[in-house]
Amino acid sequence: MTNRITINADRAKGTINRNIYGHFSEHLGRCIYEGLWVGEDSEIPNTNGIRNDVAAALKQMKIPVLRWPGGCFADEYHWKDGIGPKENRKRMINTHWGGVVENNHFGTHEFMMLCEMLECEPYINGNVGSGTVQEMSEWVEYLTFEGVSPMAEMRSANGRTEPWKVKYFGVGNENWGCGGNMRPEYYADLYRQFQTYVRNYGSNRIHKVACGPNTDDYHWMETLMKQAHRYMDSITLHYYTVPGDSWQEKGAATGFPEEMWRVTLKKALFMEELIRKHSAIMDQYDPEKRIGLLVDEWGTWHDVEPGTNPGFLYQQNTIRDALVAGISLNIFNAHCDRVQMANIAQLVNVLQAVILTEGEKMVLTPTYHVFDMYKVHQDAELLDIHQSIKEMGEGKEGIPQISVSASKDDTGRVHISLCNLDHQGGAKVELELRGLVGKHVFVKGTTLTSDAIDGHNTFEEANKVAPTEFTAFSLDGHMLHAELPPMSVTVLEVIAE
Ligand code: AHR
Repeated sequence: MTNRITINADRAKGTINRNIYGHFSEHLGRCIYEGLWVGEDSEIPNTNGIRNDVAAALKQMKIPVLRWPGGCFADEYHWKDGIGPKENRKRMINTHWGGVVENNHFGTHEFMMLCEMLECEPYINGNVGSGTVQEMSEWVEYLTFEGVSPMAEMRSANGRTEPWKVKYFGVGNENWGCGGNMRPEYYADLYRQFQTYVRNYGSNRIHKVACGPNTDDYHWMETLMKQAHRYMDSITLHYYTVPGDSWQEKGAATGFPEEMWRVTLKKALFMEELIRKHSAIMDQYDPEKRIGLLVDEWGTWHDVEPGTNPGFLYQQNTIRDALVAGISLNIFNAHCDRVQMANIAQLVNVLQAVILTEGEKMVLTPTYHVFDMYKVHQDAELLDIHQSIKEMGEGKEGIPQISVSASKDDTGRVHISLCNLDHQGGAKVELELRGLVGKHVFVKGTTLTSDAIDGHNTFEEANKVAPTEFTAFSLDGHMLHAELPPMSVTVLEVIAE
């Protein structure tokens, strides 16, 4: 069967918030230390302690927003331990992640500097689980107050007179689990209390983020929306694609059995149902869709690489992960009326990372290439699509052969992202390009594929899975006939002149 897709280039359905292409960096394993921060005295080339190679790659990918300092770490992080002269900073145990010593050399000033270097929006996650209202309130004052105040003076004494601009502020993380094992009723009350003291100073306007549900915990969403929707600007959702049957046996990132290909993609596709059902609950309390759903942790979670610290969550990243990324981003685009942000976990060296490092070496993962190819969707207008797609497999086991999304940017260019979920064969697609203004249509494309289901990049072979020009298409007026390579992510650019 040939897949048929109609792109209605004259029917926009809303703006794709660039923050859907966001990221997450936690004090976990080698994400912050070594991955981003090496310190000013390192032999690894750096700018004020931030590695130059990683920063350049992230800027190239147009990283729009970065969440920090956790994750579970956020609810045991006390921000005052991470300011002032580095030699005086308190050392602590990172109890969640490997029990290692955290020297707090990367703190508020270093994070804000990183965001300035990357030209991305900071998203700071406050501590509810083991912190106080005063501590959270003072952090916001320290970050954003301009004028004379105890926290502004402390900031000045630490070398930064001007306040920073901070928009996104999370009031706790996973408070149903590592953030305090709370019941939703209890957290809803705490959320109302804590957020009261998260103040807007001067022209800074905070977008307050409530901790939302784990996966399909619809009761948590219902309770939070019922009890606290008036006090929030967004609520989070966490969902990880864990290929195996349990958290104890998640499955290997490479060398996995062939049947795990489809199982993994099926689990990634579950994100669509989650967003639809959580959005339906949100619609009851917020029909105008003022409140954003932030999927601020998502991605694949495999067994750690053999021989690495189990608490560091270091995993390889293959073409299978690239497909999970492509499918998930297409789903977020489709729900851009509600999904205002998504943050893949995590940026460097942890879980579904876009970058892996080893000492001074760095490699871009297949997932990086998907984010780089998809950056054309950032802030573009989502386009209406009609599709008739072949189903692979039977009933509940079935998955579609193709996942698709399309947008139009402010220059009128249309971008179509297409994932071929079939690892065994190419996918034929007939694309009708409707509603394009202009007589002549030009198309070019880029594709990412591999010859193995676990194809990946290593420090020795860094470009094994890398984007190449896509030419397997022909154009007949406004009809485009394409053959997508097996297990591939392709982005087409359509220009009408
Ligand atoms: O991303 C790793 C962990 O997963 C985060 O710290 C936590 O929020 C989630 O359970």
